Amino acid sequence: MQLPSLSDARKRSKKEVKTIDYKLNKEYQKIGLNKTYHVKTYGCQMNEHDTENIEGLLESIGFTKEEEMEKADVVILNTCSIRENAHNKAFGMLGRLKHIKEERPNLVIGVCGCMAQEEVVVNEILAKYRHVNFVFGTHNLYDLPRLIYENMDNSKTKIDVLSIEGDVIEGLPVKRANNFKAYVNIIYGCDKFCTYCIVPYTRGKQRSRKMEDILKEVEELKEQNYQEVTLLGQNVNAYGKDLDEGYDLSDLLIKVAETKIPRVRFITSHPWDFTDKMIEVIKKYPNIMPYVHLPIQSGSNRILKLMGRRYTREEYKELFNKLKKIPGISITTDIIVGFPGETEEDFNETLDMVNYCKYDSAFTFIYSPRVGTPAAKLYENDKTTLEEKEQRLYKLNELINNYSLLNNTKLVNTIQKVLVEGLSTKKGEVFGYTETNKLVNFKGDSDLIGKIVNVKILDAKSFSLDGELVE
Ligand code: 5AD
Ligand code: SF4
Repeated sequence: MQLPSLSDARKRSKKEVKTIDYKLNKEYQKIGLNKTYHVKTYGCQMNEHDTENIEGLLESIGFTKEEEMEKADVVILNTCSIRENAHNKAFGMLGRLKHIKEERPNLVIGVCGCMAQEEVVVNEILAKYRHVNFVFGTHNLYDLPRLIYENMDNSKTKIDVLSIEGDVIEGLPVKRANNFKAYVNIIYGCDKFCTYCIVPYTRGKQRSRKMEDILKEVEELKEQNYQEVTLLGQNVNAYGKDLDEGYDLSDLLIKVAETKIPRVRFITSHPWDFTDKMIEVIKKYPNIMPYVHLPIQSGSNRILKLMGRRYTREEYKELFNKLKKIPGISITTDIIVGFPGETEEDFNETLDMVNYCKYDSAFTFIYSPRVGTPAAKLYENDKTTLEEKEQRLYKLNELINNYSLLNNTKLVNTIQKVLVEGLSTKKGEVFGYTETNKLVNFKGDSDLIGKIVNVKILDAKSFSLDGELVE
């Protein structure tokens, strides 16, 4: 039994991070023959990509995918801790699985992802959800074949979570969810410790992959006709800082762009680590998409300080203005309302920043206290009611949606390059994304899927565009 510990996870060791090549132990090769799996994923792109590795690992030991969870022999929940509602969803699903297991006692249930790294969660599983076979964390995902092998017998709940970050594992099997768009991890973990955020605890120390390993993966994807790669990290702009190689995100972006893969994206960027060189590189290479996700979180300097964000609204504006000089760029953001102690005045400063930046779109959240984070202590004395916070969120969303519509409307009558992803819900139409990551629906058939085509924009809504295919 290896239980998680948030206080251990807070520590940042000086231990050198090793790069290790994954190798499957032959003993496990046939565990899954004639058996099926189903993985439920919650949370961010990082989790979505982890699921691609989980599915790859399961198929490497003989399992096949079952689309209906109710019918699968093995169900894995890949969970998210970022806010309370993500927690609740996963626990709700565990409740449902309990009933399924009563009918099918041989069902094997595994829980992993960020929630598995939290002791409160693991203790609750041990107290109330004994139908779970095993729990593993974000640092030992590669160990899944062994964990399944050892925990198929249903005798007890086994916990196997490491709280000190693992090494960087290369060459994990992967079953990609999409045939022309791929996620590529470039940096794991986060060392920023924003005071509201659980990620530095659940994902551990910042660890960059070696540039050569990333480039090898991108080259392979290009050979397989992938049209787009998204370089992933909690804070991609810190790429390379933990390595002693003398390269950073701008150097990596150059090399990835030079592979000539048609589209390169990167998420998420912390304003603190954005250099002028990175901006120049985005500007220079046409296959680096003019799209930056730049979380502001709050527009009030007082709250930004309490959040530990390391920039002021003035510094954010300065960076924002530099980025805005990239032709055709789209900038999106994340905003938290109701951080402990946020006053109406602080909130108005957030609205003021939204009016200044006129974001293309934004993800907005009500602050959710996470056990073990510094802000959770401030929350104990927070006087603002949930109702007030909901009103703020509503007001903010209205403003954000107005700007989304305004920005989208500017695209009417322009020609946009769209990577077609699939058939729309509306019959006879397909959908895809512009270089600036905007959703477009237009008339077309399945032959277009996976291709980058020119689309004339005819109409704009807050969350999507309508267009027509042009030669
Ligand atoms: N409460 C609400 N939102 C949060 N985020 C991170 N932690 C919390 C929290 N405790 C938001 C931030 C981050 C996004 C991924 O989730 O805006 O950028
Ligand atoms: Fe969380 Fe801040 Fe790290 Fe983003 S940069 S993952 S918000 S600690």
